[in-house]
Amino acid sequence: MSHEILFTPVAIGNSQLKNRIVMAPLTRLRSIEPGDIPSPLAIEYYSQRASAGLIITEATNVSAQAKGYQGAPGIHTDEQQAAWKKIVDSVHAKDGKIAVQLWHTGSVSHKNVQPNHSAPISASAVSVGSRTSLRDDNGNVIRVESTTPREASLDEIKQVIIDFANATQRAKEAGFDFVEIHGAHGYLLAQFWSEITNQRQDEYGDNRENRARLTLEVLDACIKAWDKEHVGIRISPMGEFNNLDLGHNEEDTLWIIEKIAEYSPAYLHISESDWVDGISSYSPKFYKKIRQAFNNTIIAAGGYDVNKAEKRINDSYADAVAFGRAYIANPDLVERFSQDAPLNESYKETIYGGDEKGYIDYPILQTKN
Ligand code: PHB
Repeated sequence: MSHEILFTPVAIGNSQLKNRIVMAPLTRLRSIEPGDIPSPLAIEYYSQRASAGLIITEATNVSAQAKGYQGAPGIHTDEQQAAWKKIVDSVHAKDGKIAVQLWHTGSVSHKNVQPNHSAPISASAVSVGSRTSLRDDNGNVIRVESTTPREASLDEIKQVIIDFANATQRAKEAGFDFVEIHGAHGYLLAQFWSEITNQRQDEYGDNRENRARLTLEVLDACIKAWDKEHVGIRISPMGEFNNLDLGHNEEDTLWIIEKIAEYSPAYLHISESDWVDGISSYSPKFYKKIRQAFNNTIIAAGGYDVNKAEKRINDSYADAVAFGRAYIANPDLVERFSQDAPLNESYKETIYGGDEKGYIDYPILQTKN
């Protein structure tokens, strides 16, 4: 077997992943409306991928207000929770582990999908020209410009924190192994962290302590709703996504990682900008500083192939690596890596929306006799 390190177990929280190959969160937009219920097809989709050390689900709304994309699931109603439980059970039946990624899209939303058709909330009423995905009358995915957001009131911010905590409670009840807080990619938490979209003068803006406050209060609330062994967080330092230059420099990034580390979550998941633009990997020195700033498990992601993943782990800069695109088309990615087998190519047209095509019909390796 080559790439051996990838197939060794790794500690996370108070449990263990059977290998270091993680399925990255992938938005697939097949949930059922009304209700934002995960599609029954998702049972097969996720359980096909249960040989991963950890599956992280597609980004999942923590409230009706958190919704930005038609077809994304939620985890804030009994019906959604029941649908997730079936998915979780099917992954566990195949000895897999699964985390749900908890999402609030903030301004990457549209009034048509918001409660009462109001403008979505953000840190401030700043439009960065982001786009989101809706469905047309035939149910096909269309890309539209986001609605200019309004500044969240202090009561609404409190409610966001409660919504993340309640979603964590539901995730625990549904049997998930972890929750992952989505603090990356220019969505709500990143909008508060960014100087561009956060122009507030109150305790949630104005300086970096205040801009980090929402992320840290959400982290604290999720840990209180479950415990630190079962909560992870994803950030995407120094990348550009959703038209939001996530900005900051190494110093700000290390500062917020140190703040996160004070809560000692089970893992830190770093989405490197490579997956968007293919450039700007971090320097070895920077990885080393991240490692020094955060003691628990680190998952790296962003344009990795098997060789780069192996190197990153052997260099001790990460404990596990998440693969996104490769997991769309290769349910048996772990087996393919272990056998150095070729990977299936994914079909672009079926990534978002649609049915089983391009979702649960990618071929697995034929077993050799
Ligand atoms: C997407 O729908 O393309 C998407 C959603 C959530 C992310 C990144 C990308 O964090």
